[in-house]
Amino acid sequence: MSTVIKGARPYGEGDPVDVLVEDGVITAIGAVDVPKDAEIVEAGGQVLLPGFVDLHTHLREPGREDTETIDSGSAAAALGGYTAVFAMANTDPVADNAVIVEHVWRRGQEVGLVDVHPVGAVTVGLKGEKLAELGTMANSQARVKVFSDDGLCVADPLLMRRALEYSTALDVVIAQHAEEPRLTVGAQAHEGERAARLGYTGWPAAAEESIVARDCLLALHANARLHVCHVSTSGTADVLRWAKDRGTQVSAEVTPHHLLLTDERLATYDPVNKVNPPLRTESDAEKLRAALAEGVIDCVATDHAPHAVQDKDTEWAAARPGMLGLQTALSIVAETMVRTGLLDWRGVARVMSERPAEIGNLADQGRPIAVGEPANLTLVDPDAEWTVRGAELASIAANTPYEGMRLPGVVTATLLRGRLTARDGKVC
Ligand code: DOR
Ligand code: ZN
Ligand code: ZN
Repeated sequence: MSTVIKGARPYGEGDPVDVLVEDGVITAIGAVDVPKDAEIVEAGGQVLLPGFVDLHTHLREPGREDTETIDSGSAAAALGGYTAVFAMANTDPVADNAVIVEHVWRRGQEVGLVDVHPVGAVTVGLKGEKLAELGTMANSQARVKVFSDDGLCVADPLLMRRALEYSTALDVVIAQHAEEPRLTVGAQAHEGERAARLGYTGWPAAAEESIVARDCLLALHANARLHVCHVSTSGTADVLRWAKDRGTQVSAEVTPHHLLLTDERLATYDPVNKVNPPLRTESDAEKLRAALAEGVIDCVATDHAPHAVQDKDTEWAAARPGMLGLQTALSIVAETMVRTGLLDWRGVARVMSERPAEIGNLADQGRPIAVGEPANLTLVDPDAEWTVRGAELASIAANTPYEGMRLPGVVTATLLRGRLTARDGKVC
């Protein structure tokens, strides 16, 4: 099976070239002889990038298949340019054992649109009381590489320390949802002027920053790898800079929504804007964009969080936190990072593919666009724009905060090991 991508610009650089893909591998770049049976993708000078890798996705299977399944979430991922996603463990039942993680992995392979890597829970049932069997999950057929209680923080410092210690022997990474729970009881929105005016209980920046500082120190002393989920405050970026300067093996992600949206959205009272950690201030968003450009924050991860209408279309306090992200991530990064000149397309490849693949320890993702490399590729039209319609997204749920917005950057094709998984807005 062969495919030729005709006239693409790898990393948005140089003159357009043809890329020949045979049996899942890039076999020629330049002016290629097109094999007779080859499938042709006319790129017309569009930007060719390594397939995106999402370290943080909620696919809701098992348990909430009314909002997303591995099938529908894989479609959203392929359409968004992703070739690998990490599916968070806060499902029902929780992915805290080999049976569940193997189910998620196998189902992802059956669907075949994107590699679905299950994240294993750090603690049994996400209860924060007892470590889950990390080793059994790491050695299962799912080969779990990332562990997280996301949705909840591993708040007990002793448990977190043990998890970090075990992780070094398994060569896996602990991804922390940094939220000191004692500081966020009843929290509804970023603690600041806007929340105060609306009478919402505040979610203070210190609840995130204090856990990140603590965990960086625990990781440094345990010589372990720590990954910080959805960094939302400028203070966290400062803590990360400090920790990295001291040689801590810490990586961090920022979501597209924390790069673009702010707590100004609270004025709408629309719970589509409710997310955890909450949307912060314009000053935070600006510093997060700078930290991502600088590399203090390593990558972009969606925290794609589908929710049913009855859990979202309700009064603010009762609504679940979370928003869709897989199909809009590239466009939000184009809007906030490329249009602003903070990142070029090579930088986008770094933050959406290369760094997440390294952090998640995926050998065949985030690879250079070069002969002999696996053909996990995403083609992006940088000049096209589109209008977001939640109902038209592939997810079962429709809770996008970008409804009706016109955004730059359209994913026109995605290839997983040489096979087209999405093309011109349709799943293949
Ligand atoms: O907004 C969020 N939604 N934050 C989380 O940590 C969990 C997630 C979810 O599962 O819906
Ligand atoms: Zn989280
Ligand atoms: Zn999450």
